[in-house]
Amino acid sequence: MSTWQSFQETVATRMSHLLEQVINLQPQQDSALLPAMQYSLLNGGKRIRPFLIYATGEMLDINKENLDMCAIALECVHSYSLIHDDLPAMDDDNLRRGKPTCHIVYGEATAILAGDALQTLAFNVLADYPAPATVERIHLVSILSKAAGNQGMCGGQSLDLQATNQQVSLDALHQIHELKTGALISASMEMACVFADLPEQHRNTFQQYARALGLAFQVKDDILDITANTETLGKPQGSDEEANKSTFPSLLGLEGAENYLNELHMQALNALNAIPYNTELLKAFSDFVVQREH
Ligand code: IPE
Ligand code: IPE
Ligand code: MG
Ligand code: MG
Ligand code: MG
Repeated sequence: MSTWQSFQETVATRMSHLLEQVINLQPQQDSALLPAMQYSLLNGGKRIRPFLIYATGEMLDINKENLDMCAIALECVHSYSLIHDDLPAMDDDNLRRGKPTCHIVYGEATAILAGDALQTLAFNVLADYPAPATVERIHLVSILSKAAGNQGMCGGQSLDLQATNQQVSLDALHQIHELKTGALISASMEMACVFADLPEQHRNTFQQYARALGLAFQVKDDILDITANTETLGKPQGSDEEANKSTFPSLLGLEGAENYLNELHMQALNALNAIPYNTELLKAFSDFVVQREH
């Protein structure tokens, strides 16, 4: 088994355990809210944002408990974003991670609340999780709140909806993808870096790497929407085309989007060549982002 494969398995197992623990600590009310949160958080995502957090942590020798709270918080925000993204008012999708979407199982109102509650849970974890960091927590809240909100994921989702049924420029599409998807991926790396005393130049290099990868991740998502099948994807193939979404393949053609993906991959790898760390895991992570099948 390659170093990357065993790293991936270790992180996925750690995340399942940590996320279950966090949900189990929540008081159970007599409502469907907690089951809906649990359904969406624990149903087997790829956990790529945690991969990036722990890979960065491994490279910079950061205490795992500090990384744990970052990874839990990121996955809570990410799961919330998926619940809302699938709602009838947004992408109106009925399959996620191979299972019916949250609103199909629990109804729209509960799905909206489950998203809301996962978002606040993320920030509660950053405030209260039993880990040594203290002042760093404020910094983490600052990074994640910006990446998730108006100037990050939500802002990008809003532009994405606005661009539906429209012809947008390549610059506009870059902005949408960087915000709706890139912002949380960049935040993953930035949050891990909070715990390292890095020279500004290295911090900037990591941001360049994360920026290229965040964009690459969504370009690949757009490509897979066309080339993969529903069973492998775990979400409905062709959803973007059916909804007439603005995507990289719709703007550049499939081949053009694939060429651009490879270019972003190179940009990510080149950024890493400029820094004196063991970047093996980060390189493997970028290969994974562009080669993944779902
Ligand atoms: C899907 O993200 C939404 C995008 C930002 C493209 P992931 O592909 O990381 O979803 P899961 O967590 O593995 O299901
Ligand atoms: C969604 O992009 C990005 C989010 C912020 C959730 P997509 O709408 O393409 O994600 P999928 O394909 O439904 O996972
Ligand atoms: Mg969407
Ligand atoms: Mg969607
Ligand atoms: Mg998609």
